[in-house]
Amino acid sequence: MRLIIGITGSSGILYGIRMLEVLKKRDTEIHLIMTEWAKKCLVLETDYDFKYLRSLADHYSDDSNMAASVSSGTHKTDGMIVIPCSMKTLSSIANGYEETLVARAAGVTMKESRKLVLVPLETPVTSIHL
Ligand SMILES: Cc1cc2nc3c(=O)[nH]c(=O)nc-3n(C[C@H](O)[C@H](O)[C@H](O)COP(=O)(O)O)c2cc1C
Repeated sequence: MRLIIGITGSSGILYGIRMLEVLKKRDTEIHLIMTEWAKKCLVLETDYDFKYLRSLADHYSDDSNMAASVSSGTHKTDGMIVIPCSMKTLSSIANGYEETLVARAAGVTMKESRKLVLVPLETPVTSIHL
């Protein structure tokens, strides 16, 4: 199985870390993308560092790298999970505003009819979030 994992700047970044740990044990090929705010939340909310998360993935791309392989549908994957998914990234994906690699890869995943799982974290939510 080949999956893209997007980790964005949201509380609950531990869910993303745990997902990487579980998938690594299941021998899944992981292409990890972390946003700049994900890196900041990692430091603010956990004792883990970027080096550890990077070690759990087979491939890594910065969120600003629109030339990464996962930016194109010709790069075959079995799907993508965005965990946690900030409201900002959720909005980008929902509106097709693909200015970041996480949003672009999610758009490509849908375009190619592959499975996309979003794990949004925000509370309380407004009608805009909903
Ligand atoms: C410590 C911390 C916790 C945050 N928690 C959330 C959250 O739970 N949900 C959310 O949507 N945004 C949260 N944010 C705000 C996002 O990080 C911010 O909107 C950012 O622009 C998201 O960008 P990204 O989606 O590119 O990572 C948090 C920010 C910080 C610094």
